[in-house]
Amino acid sequence: MNYKDELAKQIAEGFEGVEAAALRDMIEYPPNPELGDFSLPCFKLSKALRKSPQAISDEIKSKLATDGLFGRVESVSGYVNVFLDKQAFAANLLSTILSERDRYGSSDLGAGKTVVFDFSSPNIAKPFHVGHLRSTMIGNALYRIHQYLGYTCVGVNHLGDWGTQFGKLIVAYKNWGNETAVEEGGILELLRLYVQFHDEADKTPELEEVARSWFVRLEQGDEEAHRLWRWFVDISLKEFNKIYDLLGIKFDSFAGESFYNDKMDKPVQELKDKGLLEEDEGALLVRLDEYNMPPALMIKKDGATLYHTRDVAAAIYRKQTYDFHKCVYVTGAAQNLHFQQLFKIVELMGYEWSKDMVHVPFGQVSLEGAKLSTRKGNVVMLDELLTRSVERVREIIEAKNPDMPNKEEVARQVGVGAIVFNDLSTNRIKDVVFSWEDALNFEGETGPYVQYTHARACSVLRKSNGGSSSIEFGGAPEVDAGQLLNTEAQLALKELYIFGEQVQQAMWKLEPSIISRYLVDLAQAFNRFYHECPILVEDQAVRNARLALVKSVQITLRNGLALIGLESPEMI
Ligand code: ARG
Repeated sequence: MNYKDELAKQIAEGFEGVEAAALRDMIEYPPNPELGDFSLPCFKLSKALRKSPQAISDEIKSKLATDGLFGRVESVSGYVNVFLDKQAFAANLLSTILSERDRYGSSDLGAGKTVVFDFSSPNIAKPFHVGHLRSTMIGNALYRIHQYLGYTCVGVNHLGDWGTQFGKLIVAYKNWGNETAVEEGGILELLRLYVQFHDEADKTPELEEVARSWFVRLEQGDEEAHRLWRWFVDISLKEFNKIYDLLGIKFDSFAGESFYNDKMDKPVQELKDKGLLEEDEGALLVRLDEYNMPPALMIKKDGATLYHTRDVAAAIYRKQTYDFHKCVYVTGAAQNLHFQQLFKIVELMGYEWSKDMVHVPFGQVSLEGAKLSTRKGNVVMLDELLTRSVERVREIIEAKNPDMPNKEEVARQVGVGAIVFNDLSTNRIKDVVFSWEDALNFEGETGPYVQYTHARACSVLRKSNGGSSSIEFGGAPEVDAGQLLNTEAQLALKELYIFGEQVQQAMWKLEPSIISRYLVDLAQAFNRFYHECPILVEDQAVRNARLALVKSVQITLRNGLALIGLESPEMI
């Protein structure tokens, strides 16, 4: 039952020329429960209806039916305040959640539409660092949220597996590396070589030229360059996949930059034909002065293509392959200009779908104050971050609950969850300072806190089933919702009720933190209920109704956690 829709519909029936959809958007949740469960500020209608807000709210009050859904309606200072019938509200909501279960909060809003998510996209031979973690987490959450709302989603890992860095790496490898060290050291050794290249090139600038020529050889299909490149890619992918496995993330495509090698001639020719390419000292670029942007370089004077060139080819390829409704790019805000340029170029090429490309930028992550930079090599590697987090949780479990079954599995779920949740708990555009204390706090607004609350609900359910391992709600299907009229129960129910709206908000705003914050609110509301209202009491009607609420919270926490990529262990 969507109360806002219903309320808007009922009000619209009483007024000529007022659209239910417009009314719906005007309805608010009052900050104070004494002002009702829903409220309509009538000053927003007074112009259209040529009446004072108070006259409108009086009229709405007199016309609104207060039998089924709405228990009481008040007209106060031009506001219509609507109070739900608490019992009907509780009964409807619990029966919805208990029947929809792992679909509760979902919708078919996006049916028939495909959204491409370009996320994670680390660079081969450079480490997968905390910045890429943000892209991975945000992209994965947006993917899951859209999927839950009925969209067909395509997750693309646009690997940075092409570009001048390979020229540098080849030079570094040939000068200062060897096969065993790379086989054994993996990405770290590749990174060491990459860093060494920059150190040496500071002293011997000619090395840059040698590296450039190796990249050109690679682009032209030179056998040796190609073999080394493939090897570097495979070594890196093996390690990235370890991280994706740990995080439980899957991609539908790994078409990275190199995938577009043989797909760039056409768009480049098209740019030429459309008069968009300009020659500048042997290089080819698209001028964007008119749009207050610097030019975008497409072909270097040595013939090499660039990040931009491959992105133009990728956009066209994706439109052709997936016929996307939206193509979403998740990267750090440092790439804002790159995407503005890209979208403009595609628009100038005459593709009306350029408006469907969306950049989702995010702020920088710093770790104990240090800015993360690949070039200098002072990065904390992501797998190390995750491993350390899992270890810390393992220690906490050993201290608090050493006999717990599946300790290893739970330590992984909570340790990884802590990092992910921490990453997704503030507005994505804000810079994040990572702190272990904050991320692993079981009491604060953290992933472990939400997961722990979920496990607490599971534990009550198990006890209610005579201590069995089942967390099913064993009660009668018809719940006496009259037992849930107290404040704590009602506040928890209200949180449960807004879940679906929150999922949609997160989708429209492309903002997973809406879900993580919601989950903290729900967990807090549940914990207040849990402390105030003993659940496993003698009175069967009370017990049954409270258990139905516990089960509904458990379902909703689990659904919400899954949307942001966290697992929900049943025991912590
Ligand atoms: N590899 C890039 C980086 O690490 C991100 C790629 C984003 N996607 C794209 N289509 N440009 O910064």
